[in-house]
Order: sequence, then structure tokens, then C-alpha cells
Amino acid sequence: MTIANPLHVLGISGSLRKASYNTALLRAAAELMPAGMTLETFDLLPLPMFNQDAEKPFPEAVAEFRARVAQADALLIATPEYNSSVSGALKNAIDWASRSPQQPLNGKPVAMMGASTGNFGTLRAQLHLRQILTHVGALPLGKPEVLVARAEQVFDPVGNLTDATARGFLRDLLAALGKWIERVAPPGSSRPV
Ligand SMILES: Cc1cc2nc3c(=O)[nH]c(=O)nc-3n(C[C@H](O)[C@H](O)[C@H](O)COP(=O)(O)O)c2cc1C
Repeated sequence: MTIANPLHVLGISGSLRKASYNTALLRAAAELMPAGMTLETFDLLPLPMFNQDAEKPFPEAVAEFRARVAQADALLIATPEYNSSVSGALKNAIDWASRSPQQPLNGKPVAMMGASTGNFGTLRAQLHLRQILTHVGALPLGKPEVLVARAEQVFDPVGNLTDATARGFLRDLLAALGKWIERVAPPGSSRPV
């Protein structure tokens, strides 16, 4: 990565709610982004529910999402945990992005993280997310794991990540993602089809 040609990361929060801890985690990531990397986010709210009858052509919001995924050097996904798995909104987005003809998730480096109010910090959701991403050909980064448990204790009331340990793990994840991109899919490399 260089300052002149930064690595572009697309951030996605799997929670649609306004005061989401996961969306707040993405905001913290934007603050902690290493030099030579940029983060922009995509709001999943406009995406319709996946419908195999509605793929030709893709709905406008879906086409926009797929293009943004394709253009990014990597994804950074903040997943909530709903009933021990990922949210429906996140799974829906992945289903849309998995489809032919471009399959923009195939060969895409992905870092994941998550915040929950429970004790396990989205551990079970992240295991499911890893399985789903592997199925669609994405390249999930192995570690560090960013599992933010009891989120109400590590964010302040307006959603700033105030916990120094969590900020350290997040910083380490972003640095590892930069190295992961350079290793598995550096900009300009041809991705598997
Ligand atoms: C439908 C639903 C299911 C949930 N299931 C879990 C769960 O399995 N594990 C957990 O730690 N928290 C669970 N929670 C609590 C979430 O961790 C909490 O609502 C969290 O704030 C959601 O993320 P967000 O702040 O980004 O919206 C659940 C919440 C909802 C709404």
C-alpha cells in the first residue's frame, strides 16, 4: 500500500438500526485506519429482500452495492449477532453480491468484526459469517478476532468506542487487513473466477 495509491476498503454494518454498535464500530475503524488505506461505507437499508426472480436486471440499489463491492480492494464487515448467527440484512446482502455474472465477492479479501450486548461478542455470528464467505469464494482474514462483548460498556452513549483494549484490537485488525490484501489480492491482480 502507498499513500499515492491507497487501498480502498468498503465497510458494511449488518445492523440497520440508527444507534447500532456495529455501525459505531465501523466509525471507529474509520478513525483508526492506517496510512495508505481508506474506508467508505455502504448502508444496507435500501437493499430489497433477495428474490431470484428480480435478478435480470438487478434492482438499482443492488446494482450499486455489487459495483461498490467489485471496486473495493477489500471489505470490512461489522456483524451483529442475532440468535447465534448473522443478521438477515447481512445475509441478504451477501446473497445479492454472490450472484452471477460478476460474483463480486469471489476472491475478495474480507475482515470481520462484531459487537454484541451479550457475553461472546458475536463469536457465533462470526463463525457463521466465515462459513458463508468461504462458500462464495471470498477470502476471510483469520486473525486478529475483534469480538466486542457487552457493547454498552465499551461505547459511550453517543457511540464512540472508548475502550482502549477494543481500540487496540481494531487497530491490529486494520493493519492485518492491509497485509492480507497485499498477500492474497493486491490491486491490479487478477482474481479467481
Ligand atoms: C433478534 C435479535 C437476536 C439477538 N440475538 C443475540 C445473540 O444471539 N447473541 C448476542 O450476543 N446478542 C443477541 N442480540 C442482542 C444484540 O447483541 C444487540 O441487540 C446488539 O445491540 C445488536 O447490534 P447493533 O447494536 O449493531 O444493532 C439479539 C438482538 C436481536 C434484536
